[in-house]
This record gives sequence, C-alpha cells and structure tokens, in this order.
Amino acid sequence: MTAKVRTRDFREKKRRGERIAMLTAYDANMARLLDRAGVDALLVGDSLGMVVLGFDNTVPVTLDAMIHHTAAVVRGTRHALVVADMPFLTYQATPAEAVRNAGRLMQEGGAEAVKVEGGSAIIDTVRRLVDVGVPVMGHLGLLPQSVHQVGGFLRQATNPRDADILLADALALEEAGAFAIVLESIPSEVGRTVSAALAVPTIGIGAGPDCDGQVLVTNDMIGLFDGPVPSFVKQYARVADTVTASVQSYVDDVKSRRYARPAPPKTPTPTI
Ligand code: KIV
Repeated sequence: MTAKVRTRDFREKKRRGERIAMLTAYDANMARLLDRAGVDALLVGDSLGMVVLGFDNTVPVTLDAMIHHTAAVVRGTRHALVVADMPFLTYQATPAEAVRNAGRLMQEGGAEAVKVEGGSAIIDTVRRLVDVGVPVMGHLGLLPQSVHQVGGFLRQATNPRDADILLADALALEEAGAFAIVLESIPSEVGRTVSAALAVPTIGIGAGPDCDGQVLVTNDMIGLFDGPVPSFVKQYARVADTVTASVQSYVDDVKSRRYARPAPPKTPTPTI
C-alpha cells in the first residue's frame, strides 16, 4: 500500500529522477480507479467544462461546479494528491479574492492544492496564496482560459522571445512558491530547458519527454471523450467504442426481450 502523496514529495521525486504521473478526474468512481492504478496526483481540471459538461472551452466553468466535482474526486481518492483548478476570473481580480476562492476549493471541496494559469500577471497572487498556506501549482504555455484572447488552442513559445518569457515566468512562479508547474503545448526543447532550470518539477502536457512528469486528460487518454483529441495524447483504450457497442447489444436485447435470468433463491440446507 503506497503512502498518501503530499506536495513536498513532488520536489523530492524530481531530485530522485522519479517521473510524476498525473491524470484528470471529475468524479469519485473514476478517481477510485485511477488512484488504485497508482497515479501520483489527480487534477480536477476545468477541462471538466469540455469533456464532461459539453462546453466548447473552459471559460464557463464556475467555482461551485469545481467545488462539487472536487469533493467527489476527494471521496474516491486515498493516495494521490488532489489538485483543483481555479476557474477563469476566480483568482485574477485581487489576491484577496483568490485566497477566499482557493479557501472554498480546499474547505468545501477538500482540494489539497490549487492550479492557476499564467505567469508575471499573477505572481503576487501566487505569493499571497502560498503565504497563507495554499499550495499552488502553476500553469504556463497554452492557457485554455485565455482561448478568446489568443484566438484558439494554439501551441505556445514557438519562437526564442516567447520561450525566454516562458522561462522567466517559470522561474518567477518557483520563486513565488509554486510547488510544480504544468507546461502545456510547447516545443520539446523549451520543456527541456525550463525543466532543467527549475528545482520544482514540471508536469508536461504536449511539452515533450523531458518534463519531470506528465498530465493528460483521462477522458482523452482512455478514449472516453467523443470529440477530437490532441495529437500528443497516447490513447491506451477506446472506451467510447466499448460503451457504444455494449449499449447497441443492450438495445437489441431489450427489443428481443432477452434479460438476465436472476439466480434462483438458495434452498436452505436441512439441518439434522
Ligand atoms: O483543465 C485541465 O484538465 C488542465 C490540464 C489540461 C492540464 O488544465
């Protein structure tokens, strides 16, 4: 039985050269399955909006929805660290508001850390969160909450100037106290350079093989999401196909009146 993973284990894993395996989860049952399989951390991502709630992007996801799903994931988790995304505009307005909202994710949802998107623009907020006892995971590169500003889910840091800005942001997040940083959709060389420059681990998603760990959206990774999946995702199963085929058999069975036969009641063994 593995011990509960804590934020302090992240830096130690990097020091030992042990890669960190992280996946998203949105409900208690899936959290139980992923936890049992040995993931180090579960992210209650605001990708919830896209892969579960049917939105086109993560912008409409509310704090209440994140608290609701975080609490479910926590109920299904024993070992993995549970990190919850702070939704769009729940941490950008003021550090005080960020503290109150992170507090709700931890107190009502049971999150053990929060994740926030951005670099220089939110450094004061990250420092304030860490100062009051909220463990913070950073997120740089492709920032899904900025989809309307960027004009799509586009690969980032693809030129030397943007790569330098990303490195500076990563160093600033580390200095402000972030315990790990997600790097999304950037060139492998940038992932490698940033990972080498930091003492805290980088968790890549489409950021090459040299990050200190990887996070994927579980529904993409197991082929459960019935929509387009980014090319960097290795699919380990096609669960959506299994569900469709099973349900087709179910529909056929109901139409043909084929039902499971309940087991006959056990006859009591006579006592002498
Ligand atoms: O919301 C999410 O699932 C994420 C991952 C893509 C890192 O932020």
